[in-house]
Amino acid sequence: MKINLVARAHDFARERLGETPFLAVDATAGNGHDTLFLARLAGTNGRVAAFDVQAEAIEATRARLEKNACAAQVELHLCGHEKMAELLGEAWAGKTRAVFFNLGYLPKSDHAVTTSAATTLPALDAAWGLLAPGGFISLTVYTRHPGGFAESERVDTWLDGLRDCADIFTCGAHNPVEPWWAGIVKR
Ligand SMILES: C[S@@+](CC[C@H](N)C(=O)[O-])C[C@H]1O[C@@H](n2cnc3c(N)ncnc32)[C@H](O)[C@@H]1O
Repeated sequence: MKINLVARAHDFARERLGETPFLAVDATAGNGHDTLFLARLAGTNGRVAAFDVQAEAIEATRARLEKNACAAQVELHLCGHEKMAELLGEAWAGKTRAVFFNLGYLPKSDHAVTTSAATTLPALDAAWGLLAPGGFISLTVYTRHPGGFAESERVDTWLDGLRDCADIFTCGAHNPVEPWWAGIVKR
C-alpha cells in the first residue's frame, strides 16, 4: 500500500499544533503547499517563515498564500534553509513549534536543483536549535532522484544521533526506491 507521506506529516502537525498563535518554519517552500498548511494553522496572530533557494518556488508560494488570504502571517526568504537560525535570530530561537522539511526537487521544475546533505544537515541542526521543548521537525525524504539516497543515508545518521533527546516517529522504508517520513519531537 502506498502511504501518503504529506498527509501523514500534516496529520502529525495538526495533532501537535492545537494552541495558537505559534511560530513555524517551512524549510523547503517549493510550491507552497506546506507553507499554506502551516499558515492556516498558525492564523493571523502566528508567524511562518518559509525558505527556498529558487525564485520560482518563492513566487509560487507567494501566489498560493495570496490566493488563500494567508500572506499576512508568512515571511518568505529567497535563501538556503541552512541560514535559518541567523536570519530568524533570537525571536525564534528555542520558541519555534514546528519546522517542515520536504526534501528533493521542485516538482515540474529543474530536477538538477535538489536539496543535498551538505546544506540539509546544517539546516537540520539549525532547526533543532530553533525548536521549543515539545516542538518538532517534520522530515519527508525522497530517495529515487540522483543524490537522493545518499542524502537520505546522511539524514538517517543525523537522526540516530538524536535518539537520547527526541521522540522519533517514522513512516516508510529507508531504501533506495521509497520515500520516508520522520516526526522528531524535542523532549
Ligand atoms: C520537494 S520541494 C518542496 C515542496 C514543498 N514543501 C511544497 O509543499 O510544495 C523541495 C524544495 O527544496 C528547495 N531547496 C533545495 N535546496 C534548498 C536549500 N538549501 N534551502 C531551501 N530550499 C532548498 C528546492 O528549490 C525545492 O523547491
